[in-house]
Amino acid sequence: MSGRTTVSVLLPPGSAGAALVEDVRRGLASQPRTLPPKWLYDDEGSRLFDRITRLPDYYPTEAERSILLAAAPEIAALTDATTLVELGSGTSDKTRALLDAFTATGRLTRFVPVDVSEGILREAAEELASTYPDLTVQAIVGDFTLHLSHLPSDHRKLVAFLGGTIGNLYVEERGAFLGALADSFAPGDWLLLGTDLVKSADRLIAAYDDPGGVTEQFVRNGLRVLNRELGADFDEAAFTYVPFWDPHMHRMDLRLRADMPQHVHVPGAAIDFFLASGEEIRMEISTKFTRDTVRDELGAVGLEVVQTWTDAAGDFAVTLARKQAG
Ligand code: SAH
Ligand code: AVI
Repeated sequence: MSGRTTVSVLLPPGSAGAALVEDVRRGLASQPRTLPPKWLYDDEGSRLFDRITRLPDYYPTEAERSILLAAAPEIAALTDATTLVELGSGTSDKTRALLDAFTATGRLTRFVPVDVSEGILREAAEELASTYPDLTVQAIVGDFTLHLSHLPSDHRKLVAFLGGTIGNLYVEERGAFLGALADSFAPGDWLLLGTDLVKSADRLIAAYDDPGGVTEQFVRNGLRVLNRELGADFDEAAFTYVPFWDPHMHRMDLRLRADMPQHVHVPGAAIDFFLASGEEIRMEISTKFTRDTVRDELGAVGLEVVQTWTDAAGDFAVTLARKQAG
């Protein structure tokens, strides 16, 4: 690591910590059986997600990039931040649009990417430190649902949460996360939130069911994580990928359906269960928003929307919000 790059590790090595065991026990006992999506991102999951971002039908990445390229100078001028924090930063590829605009103002001194996926975070931190030699890069291997208190508090900061990752949280988790984030904000702090917008079911399904099966591999990787980390014996080949749009919950629901009955043992979490033929495991959700639902959810935790940008097609939104006074 270079002198200006530090990496703080707040998670136990690998993902076989108590948090995975707890999530697996709770999630696999619920109906439908559910795995929290953060466990999809081991090194292989992060690589697969990076391939997803380049699929022709997966529009969110390029839509958000186009917004950031156009709006970054305005975001830098409005916020005048000295620290940029990025939650669920991954490769931080699109974030370069922000870093270019912020470093041009000369006020930004620090970039703090936060991700559960250690390998990709370390790689991104090194690359960014060499591209932006005047920035201090303080990477945090951590969970944004648990570790917000470790974010810097001594600077005027902008917290970017991009890609639509907020849509991967369940509704209660989302409310709790936004509330905790708003509570952690000092006056003068800002949130920049990327959200995917509701659109036709056909386009959404195309975005999550590519013909080459990259998204399916990403979702199936969740079973491989459980087999490797917890010694589980999921028969990966005996599941079918089932992505569908849930119009009531406004979300994509990405499941694996058992093709035959299976007795599953998960020794690392001390659980066994029976999966009937046709039974499904929900591996990920991806909630889609409207400008109104974003404004309402931010307003509910005391964050006031200052500006919203969308791409030319109106597929994706980036919202800038700040903590309301009092
Ligand atoms: N922001 C990037 C990456 C999105 S993929 C983009 O817009 O393209 C989602 C990222 O969030 C992954 O890198 C994943 O490892 C990370 N992630 C998911 N859940 C997380 C959590 N609870 N805490 C921290 N990082 C998380
Ligand atoms: C990271 N997140 C916003 C992606 C999404 O679109 O919900 C994860 C993903 N899952 C399948 N494809 C992409």
